[in-house]
Amino acid sequence: MDWLNGFDSRVDVDVPLSEHTWFGLGGTAARMVSPRDEPQLAALVQQAQARGVPVRVLGSGANVLVSDAGVDGVVVRLNEPAFTTVSFDGEVATAGGGADLMKLCSACVDRGLSGLECMAGIPGTVGGAIRMNAGGRFGEISGCLEDARVMQPTGAVDVLARDRIGFGYRRSNLGRAIVLSARFRLRRCRADDVRARFREYWRFKKASQPMAECSAGCIFKNPPGDSAGRLIDQAGLKGRTRGLARVSERHANFIVADDGATATDVLELVDEIRSAVQEKFGILLDLEIEVWQPAAARSYAV
Ligand code: EPU
Repeated sequence: MDWLNGFDSRVDVDVPLSEHTWFGLGGTAARMVSPRDEPQLAALVQQAQARGVPVRVLGSGANVLVSDAGVDGVVVRLNEPAFTTVSFDGEVATAGGGADLMKLCSACVDRGLSGLECMAGIPGTVGGAIRMNAGGRFGEISGCLEDARVMQPTGAVDVLARDRIGFGYRRSNLGRAIVLSARFRLRRCRADDVRARFREYWRFKKASQPMAECSAGCIFKNPPGDSAGRLIDQAGLKGRTRGLARVSERHANFIVADDGATATDVLELVDEIRSAVQEKFGILLDLEIEVWQPAAARSYAV
């Protein structure tokens, strides 16, 4: 990928993605690029598109499992200030796609702005959270989103109002568009009330999920009207292991990677859970996490 030499931004070679994901597993990224600003990002995606090189955006790696073979193409990180800034104008917060979601939530809580406290304890970047409509029982990020500025693979920039983003349960129609920034319309409340809700949601999550261990959050989506965690639990799979990957005893929809686990251990455990739940309940669970693998070795159905 010599064409990347012309970029006046940071380009790293063979970067271990285990250092950039919450699972702490998987192989390397052939190239990792941190564009300095939007024009550089536009040039990068255009050139990659012209050459047929895959581009993947890595947020904080909270919902991604990287295969042991790593990934080809270019991994983009939006960690330069042009993509991480958070600002406020009255009751509207504007955040870069690479901004840390928890920092945004805390800044809203401190200002007594309500709307995003439902995201308490959900790790990730603003862009990653929007693309998968992250959330939980207290709400989803789309709830207070006003609009998002996105860059298409052609480099063109669009502003999409919320109802054009096709939000559903853990989904959007953003496809390969990259979230540059987003605006959230919040409600002014007493800061103490917003903070109390934020803390209550965080406590709930901490009590019911293995937050201190290496995982990527919930592995499967909840099937309509049911809970993947309950089904996996009822199938008797809590504590089940494959290599050093284990179904969490605290919440059955979490796979925990113990020291020395591989991505293959996790993927084999995923298959075993799927088969067991299908056999017992006739329900095929859909992955909630993203599995990243080289284009040439796409052996796992994602
Ligand atoms: N349950 C069990 N056994 C388990 C886990 C859960 O029986 O091991 C039962 C619970 O008792 C409850 C039901 O299943 O009756 C639902 O469980 P929970 O309240 O923990 O919620 P969930 O549906 O499993 C969802 C999100 C989580 C989010 C929580 C709380 C999905 C796939 N998961 O979990 O999101 O944190 O609500 O808001 O939508 C994530 O997206 O990564 C994630 C963790």
